[in-house]
Amino acid sequence: MKFFIDTANLDQIKEAQDMGILDGVTTNPSLMAKEGITGTNNILKHYVDICNIVDGDVSAEVISTDFEGMVREGEALAELHDQIVIKLPMIKDGVKACKYFSDRGIKTNVTLVFSPGQALLAAKAGATYVSPFIGRLDDISTDGLNLIAEIRQIYDNYGFDTEILAASVRHTMHVIDCAKLGADVMTGPLSSITGLLKHPLTDIGLEKFLADYKKGN
Ligand code: E4P
Repeated sequence: MKFFIDTANLDQIKEAQDMGILDGVTTNPSLMAKEGITGTNNILKHYVDICNIVDGDVSAEVISTDFEGMVREGEALAELHDQIVIKLPMIKDGVKACKYFSDRGIKTNVTLVFSPGQALLAAKAGATYVSPFIGRLDDISTDGLNLIAEIRQIYDNYGFDTEILAASVRHTMHVIDCAKLGADVMTGPLSSITGLLKHPLTDIGLEKFLADYKKGN
């Protein structure tokens, strides 16, 4: 399973990269705004800064909602760095733009996916990644993990190459459950990754080992 971090915060991206377990980064306009990155030039520069930290795919989201605008924006984003993946919304023109980019060998991530039918469309359009938002489904009392299971079954039935990128991951149990269900990738906050480190028996065991070592030395 690949681990992506869902943030535009350079310190957090560095921390995850330094752990040696990071495979990529996802961003969205809200995450950029949270870091105070505004204005086209600053946003484009920030994508390059992220690419220079992480070894792997970096999803950069288009703002346009029409096909021509998405193609124009996506082509400019793809020019920035060879690690850039064009993130497109799951709307009719987004599907059309996904097909346009996949036909040209440019990686895509179809975002804001909340149903198996939407995931099927993304795969048909040749998406590199599909992003089902599990946390946001859980927020409205709908089982987000069930969507991952349904997409896994559909993609396996037909051998689609599109990778299931479990998005809107909120905590460590989402990561573990997505791994059990066969999601190819997860993206979440740094805490959902570092939380996997924690177990009280690890801390107690280490404390005892070190204390016993000290007794004999
Ligand atoms: C996915 O690419 C999105 O950026 C993200 O995972 C959304 O997560 P949220 O629902 O926690 O905002």
